[in-house]
Amino acid sequence: NPEVFILAIESSCDDTAAAILQNDKVLSNVVANQLIHNQYGGVVPELASRAHQQNIVPVVDAALRKANIQKEQLSAIAFTQGPGLMGSLLVGSSFAKSMALALQIPLIAVNHMQAHVLAHFIAEENFEKPKFPFLALTISGGHTQIIKVDDFFEMKVIGETTDDAVGEAFDKSAKILGLPYPGGPLIDKYAQLGNPKAFVFTKPKVPGLDFSFSGLKTAILYFIQKKKIENSNFVDENLNDICASIQHTIIEILMDKLKLAVKETGIKQIAIGGGVSANSGIRNTLKKAEDLYGWKTFVPKFEYTTDNAAMIGIVGYQKFLNQTFETSSVVSKARIQF
Ligand code: KG4
Ligand code: ZN
Repeated sequence: NPEVFILAIESSCDDTAAAILQNDKVLSNVVANQLIHNQYGGVVPELASRAHQQNIVPVVDAALRKANIQKEQLSAIAFTQGPGLMGSLLVGSSFAKSMALALQIPLIAVNHMQAHVLAHFIAEENFEKPKFPFLALTISGGHTQIIKVDDFFEMKVIGETTDDAVGEAFDKSAKILGLPYPGGPLIDKYAQLGNPKAFVFTKPKVPGLDFSFSGLKTAILYFIQKKKIENSNFVDENLNDICASIQHTIIEILMDKLKLAVKETGIKQIAIGGGVSANSGIRNTLKKAEDLYGWKTFVPKFEYTTDNAAMIGIVGYQKFLNQTFETSSVVSKARIQF
């Protein structure tokens, strides 16, 4: 088997990322985060496109340099086709098309959501790959989905959020508490020192495997407003307990649906991905579920859970093996299903 070298480019949201893979192994994985958005409390699409435009060449250069690969050695270029912000996607796809054309090598289009799922197939020491079929829980600032994965390109969304993503639930709750954006990691930090049962928030009633998080945010807002009338220092005095209770509620919402998904599909292998899978409470709960319910859970290396290009590269590698290539007339798509 000849070695395959893939350059992968990810630019769907606010991170400009490039990676080099040698078959299923990551040689380099470079991400330029756009900190500009923090002061706005969320991603500003126009600013994201401009920053991608500035970052893309240096990021690709850095990926090649760190991998110690010459561009002439590349077998193909993979890029994120969607879903994502159109202006952001266009920067990555235009760059990938031009470079593939210049080097006269194949171009590969990758679905960002499939990439989050297939990130589990990146070869890493001490990380086991899931076996088909498995369930993938993809949780980030932009996504909340349960996916039944039967094969590399045979996957089906069996549950998803009907409003906010779980990362937004963390970030919006944090904002109510006066914490800076993105507040998810801070809620996690304070939650570790608090009592998860201190306060009770009602869980949404959503049928089937779908999720809803916007009601929780409103419940927290009203709760905090009411408590502040009684005691203006309520948040400061109870921050750890509030964060622990919010996190506990979110974890229960996720676990209720996962349990239902396992019951409905009979599949007990669960692989998680997306930025929120960094959450220590979620990780611990899933680890405990292995003993409690006989599940087998997979959590990839942290750098492969948030938006990154290595996950685009592993899909690119699979598509290279299948010879699934695109012409340069391929278009970016803000929305795509699998
Ligand atoms: O995957 P990601 O980096 O970007 C996308 O949204 O695609 O995910 C970012 C989200 C943010 O909402 C952030 O608050 C959340 O992941 N997050 C966390 C933690 N680390 C990141 N949420 C809870 N606990 C964490 N430790
Ligand atoms: Zn993502």
